[in-house]
Amino acid sequence: LLPILRRVDQLREATQPWRRAGETIGLVPTMGALHAGHMALVARATAECDRAVATIFVNPKQFDRKEDLSRYPRDEARDARLLAENRCDLLFAPGVDQMYPQGFAATVGITGVSDVLEGLYRPGHFDGVTTVVCKLLLQSLPDRAYFGEKDYQQLTVVKQMVRDLDIPVDIVPVATVREPDGLALASRNVHLTPAQRQVAPLLHRVMTEIAEELSDGQTPAALLLPEGQQRLGSAGFTKIDYLALHAADTLEPLQHVDRPARLFAAAWLGKTRLIDNIAVDPR
Ligand code: PAJ
Repeated sequence: LLPILRRVDQLREATQPWRRAGETIGLVPTMGALHAGHMALVARATAECDRAVATIFVNPKQFDRKEDLSRYPRDEARDARLLAENRCDLLFAPGVDQMYPQGFAATVGITGVSDVLEGLYRPGHFDGVTTVVCKLLLQSLPDRAYFGEKDYQQLTVVKQMVRDLDIPVDIVPVATVREPDGLALASRNVHLTPAQRQVAPLLHRVMTEIAEELSDGQTPAALLLPEGQQRLGSAGFTKIDYLALHAADTLEPLQHVDRPARLFAAAWLGKTRLIDNIAVDPR
């Protein structure tokens, strides 16, 4: 029922009649192993657009660790079923050779907002993301494209790319979907052992508490954040890459919440790296 297309020419052939008929197209780019977070994007796309196109491509260019790529969860049959049930019109699932044929030499890179946080810990990651998202946008020419706030920096980088390159698409942010205990849904969560799964929600809990203290604008980040890192360490996180306060728009580091801000964290449970972020607004 749900067409699965592998080639760019097939995608163009399928979407062109929709565009010609004046129908709007919503794009939901993913790497598969779909969960309720992805489905929130699909739900928005189907609600706001005449047609919803999902893409599944585990993009090798954005993985900075070989092992992370090789063990990334994949289950296309299950994903396709979920997308069909959620009234998605089309799945584009190209192979690596289709996206990066012999001789591929382009890189789309965004400076500034890509250089902080994840950019520091995952060299080349955002170049991989912007290169593939730029291609997906040009291949499908959607009216809107949906991105989760779960990856808030990615959303910011993609918005900057679309603005700077005059790509005619609306980037629509979608709120993070969480488990009842606060853990942000993520495809990599399947790797967590039962013991790690018990520790995982503490990331969001500690972040929420720190955000509450930061939002009074009094106590500086330099005092609260190291304390938060320590709490995460004692809770069982094996390594904390960062717990940091940045401006919500420019992603500049902030010491005080004197404007809309965002608290970001990346922390490890064994071989699994969790990232999360929450809004911190001035009181
Ligand atoms: P992936 O991790 O599969 O995520 C696809 C989209 O789903 C992203 O926009 C992400 O922010 C969103 N998402 C993931 N978990 C979410 C959650 N718990 N709540 C809300 N949204 C969530 O992000 C990527 O793939 C890739 O980098 C991609 C943009 C597809 C480029 O390769």
